[in-house]
Amino acid sequence: MEKLIISGGTPLKGTVHISGSKNSALPIIAATLLTAEPCVIRGVPNLSDIDTMVRILKFLGVEASFDAKHGILHICAEHPLGVAPYEWVRKMRASVCLLGPLLARLKKTKVSLPGGCVIGDRPIDLHIKGLRRLGAQISVENGYVYAQCKELVGTDVFLCGRFGSTVLGTANILMAASLAKGTTTIESAACEPEVEDLANFLNKMGAKIKGAGSHIIEVEGVKQLHGAEHTVISDRIEAGTFMVAAAITGGDIEIKGAHAEHLCAMRDKLEESGTEIQRTNGSIRVRGRGNLTSTDVITMPYPGFPTDMQAQMSALMTLTPGISVITEKVFPNRFMHLSEMARLGANVALEGNSAIIKGVKHLSGAPVMASDLRASAGLVLAGLAAGGETEVNRIYHVDRGYERIDAKLRALGANIERIDE
Ligand code: EPU
Repeated sequence: MEKLIISGGTPLKGTVHISGSKNSALPIIAATLLTAEPCVIRGVPNLSDIDTMVRILKFLGVEASFDAKHGILHICAEHPLGVAPYEWVRKMRASVCLLGPLLARLKKTKVSLPGGCVIGDRPIDLHIKGLRRLGAQISVENGYVYAQCKELVGTDVFLCGRFGSTVLGTANILMAASLAKGTTTIESAACEPEVEDLANFLNKMGAKIKGAGSHIIEVEGVKQLHGAEHTVISDRIEAGTFMVAAAITGGDIEIKGAHAEHLCAMRDKLEESGTEIQRTNGSIRVRGRGNLTSTDVITMPYPGFPTDMQAQMSALMTLTPGISVITEKVFPNRFMHLSEMARLGANVALEGNSAIIKGVKHLSGAPVMASDLRASAGLVLAGLAAGGETEVNRIYHVDRGYERIDAKLRALGANIERIDE
């Protein structure tokens, strides 16, 4: 198993190029199931989650070839099968977004329930509710969602749950409604840029979607969709992670290809914490000034502070003088990284869904264990700032969502090495 060995303490300096967004690419790849014609997706990051999605589609009989070097995926779902089994879905919860397109295309599908997740409950009740509103008959038996319909019929679909809107739930309904009869209005739709990117791809395929990126999306169903080409947006969470890397090491990083407008909450909180941020055309320059100020952060659906940046921001708070509080309102139990950060000397306490973090003067390197994708990013950042050697184990988690993170950090001057035991 591979691990990362980091000798922390070097201020990171230089330029980093941001890859395509994982969370845009995954539902966009699923959307290619909506047409029998070939599609070309560009800017696809070379990540293990993408590999899993492509393998699932191949398992469904879809022709796919991925040029990982250039990030180009050619894909054609001429005669897809309708069953996504547990063996695949359990590997990656995002595969639940196969449900909408398979149902819309084949009128009958069977997709495994995703099961438990280390970041907390991942129910799909809103996905099911939305598809039922469109006329699907759905039963959940033996760990599978069985969905079928004679036809899907557009209507209003309210998609707000206990924790707000749902990103992949909105994606599923968008894809299904694109081939429904009549007009669907998604109310309380997720506004994340990844949802807008999916809608842009669907529109290129011939769908008629208006309002994506807002809470109300209108979809006028069409009889069929055709092949299309699309380039996915850049990954705002990868960009945010490098922003924190500059802040936590007192470095100076130019983040190229980042969409500053997708990073409002991150920019706001980092500026509040005393980090200098400059927007230029197509890039963001982040300079850590060393004298950090404590902040309070609450994670929320977009455009609020992203839950996918909570672990990384926690890492910064461990070294920020004073008391910082970070409250998790999207996945209230997503705090596995904190006890590992405590192994590096962080002073952290959990109070319900809030972490109370008292800044310490320095962290000191130790072996730590990654529990999930963003937790591992948080641990890598803490390791970059800690004195001595930090060993981050189980880094297959980080490889799910960060393309060559060690190489990108090394190019910025980090002393980081990947070793295979
Ligand atoms: N929820 C429900 N019912 C549902 C669906 C969701 O109660 O039917 C709840 C969830 O339990 C959670 C909240 O609603 O409390 C938001 O979940 P959401 O459905 O928006 O999450 P998701 O679509 O499954 C995507 C990202 C996650 C990211 C979340 C929130 C992808 C592939 N995944 O998941 O990304 O944390 O939105 O922004 O897009 C990651 O990249 O590390 C990651 C976990």
